Amino acid sequence: MEIKVHKVQNGLMGKIEIPSDKSISHRAILFSLLMREGEYYIKNFSLGEDCLSSMKAVQAFGVGVEFVKNNDLKVTVPKELKVPKEPIDCGNSGTTMRLLCGILASKGIETVLVGDESLSKRPMKRVIEPLKSMGVNIESLNNDNKAPIIIKPAKKVRGIDYVSKLASAQVKSCILLCGMQIDDENKITSFIEPSLSRDHSERLIKYLSGDIKIEGNKVSVKGNQKLTPKDIVIPGDISSASFFIAAALIVPNSNITITNVNLNPTRRGFIDVLLRMGANIQINNEHIIANEEVGDIIVKTSNLNGTTVCGDEIPKLIDEIPILTVVALFAKGKTIIKDASDLKNKETDRIMATYTNLSQMGGNITPNDDGFVIEGGQKDLKGGVSLECYHDHRIAMSSYVCGLMCQNEITINEFEWVNISFPTFLNLFEILKKVKL
Ligand code: S3P
Repeated sequence: MEIKVHKVQNGLMGKIEIPSDKSISHRAILFSLLMREGEYYIKNFSLGEDCLSSMKAVQAFGVGVEFVKNNDLKVTVPKELKVPKEPIDCGNSGTTMRLLCGILASKGIETVLVGDESLSKRPMKRVIEPLKSMGVNIESLNNDNKAPIIIKPAKKVRGIDYVSKLASAQVKSCILLCGMQIDDENKITSFIEPSLSRDHSERLIKYLSGDIKIEGNKVSVKGNQKLTPKDIVIPGDISSASFFIAAALIVPNSNITITNVNLNPTRRGFIDVLLRMGANIQINNEHIIANEEVGDIIVKTSNLNGTTVCGDEIPKLIDEIPILTVVALFAKGKTIIKDASDLKNKETDRIMATYTNLSQMGGNITPNDDGFVIEGGQKDLKGGVSLECYHDHRIAMSSYVCGLMCQNEITINEFEWVNISFPTFLNLFEILKKVKL
């Protein structure tokens, strides 16, 4: 689907609720494979294609999933899991594949995990290597440390103390979820990361009465654990909200409210950086749901200043970097983003894709091996170009927001890739363009 994007003339106004958090939705459904027999409800499950891949995966193992109302699910965990008849298709979703590697590692069920073209190119060594050192029988079918991946019954899976070079919630979750199922409750598995990555797995394990210990950047779990089925309410996704926050900051005369957004400190790096840049962002109605911070965000057009984003801040906004570069084009001065080389391993090489699209629209952005330098101070961009989204939902949505600031119409090809995380993206923007107070 090709779409045209025009400059917004009168500002963005109104109140919206964005779809539910993708990372938490994945965990809420995938953790059914770690639970004792029973039933639970997931309220406000993400209907993006990625989370549907996780949902179909658990169904293949005999977990019952029923839509009870809109996006509320009833999940029935059986006593014994079934052996899937076919390979598990993880689609475009790295989270589905990497978490499943850990979840299935010691189940004694032979399973093949496959993915789409993009997922099949993404690095899986980061999970295969530590799992092998735990004794897991896991291989990449083409011997290239990429999908397809085969997991076979293993003789003995052992706990480890894994010191990771990478701050990655997918790798951390994979190792911990494997460690929780080791056949000995006295065996501890721990994961130490260089900076704290998102901690939704840790929070959900605790919420579902699991035994987990957190000391700074080290997380440890005991073996032989089963989680307890319990209803889970999923808040709105801050990564999806980031496109609306960015647009309201840079489009003149905007004033929007986004309700029910997850504000977990390991996820809200984008907001913290924007506040440092001078953003007029207010947070109201903060409360806790299912062990996660939630609140409403009010954003008004702001005069922003450039900044430097690096180090421990990167994992807290890794998925928001493409949209942060768009904001930086309209901030006064230079913005530097570094220590983010893992952007090359996302759904596409996000350093190249972001640079290509923003520079084509007329932005002054220089790509580096681990980030960008952005020269800000633009009032608008010239636009008038046709862009690809590189099969990447976040590149599609960032390009759209930048298009709202272009003098000449832009075209974005294959925009249907937004459906990976945010099928209602365009509808919500239409609401904000129409509402006039
Ligand atoms: C995710 C973790 C991040 C993020 C991805 C979702 C998760 O990946 O980029 O979109 O749900 O755990 P890494 O952990 O590999 O950085």
